[in-house]
Amino acid sequence: MSGNITFTMIKPGAVKNEHIGHILIMINNAGFRIVAMKYVKLRTAQAEVFYSIHKDKPFYRDLIKFIVSGPVVAAILEKENAVKDLRKLIGTTDPTKAEEGTIRKLFAKSIEHNAVHGSDSDENAIRECNFFFSYNERFSKDGSCMSA
Ligand code: CMP
Repeated sequence: MSGNITFTMIKPGAVKNEHIGHILIMINNAGFRIVAMKYVKLRTAQAEVFYSIHKDKPFYRDLIKFIVSGPVVAAILEKENAVKDLRKLIGTTDPTKAEEGTIRKLFAKSIEHNAVHGSDSDENAIRECNFFFSYNERFSKDGSCMSA
């Protein structure tokens, strides 16, 4: 299944500003199928593991503080070229540089509060999906649980 799944997370700022519905419609209209989804507030220790690849970056502490500041919507998405196509849909990390019509251009406030996260590689997509979801929380198109 590598290459066909990616992970996304609607961040606390976009949740608080009630953009969940708009963002999910954009994801749906772009042809992604929702394999798994949850509405959850991360604890600091969990956020530190999720964003551990950024642990040496100067913005790491602020990133952790922000991501635990409220609930997030986490989801596994399925589509051909899922990682690449989702990144195109969400736009660049810095919303001031994001293309018109992208999720970040429409809903992000700043690079720190950039509305959504999207996996940057197939490898990280698998790691991030596994971080949030067990196999009996993932569903095939016909509604059956997906096998490992
Ligand atoms: P995300 O896609 O969730 O991946 C890591 C996050 O760190 C990123 O979105 C931004 O919100 C944040 N980030 C990345 N680069 C910077 C930066 N230069 N300054 C502040 N925050 C950043």
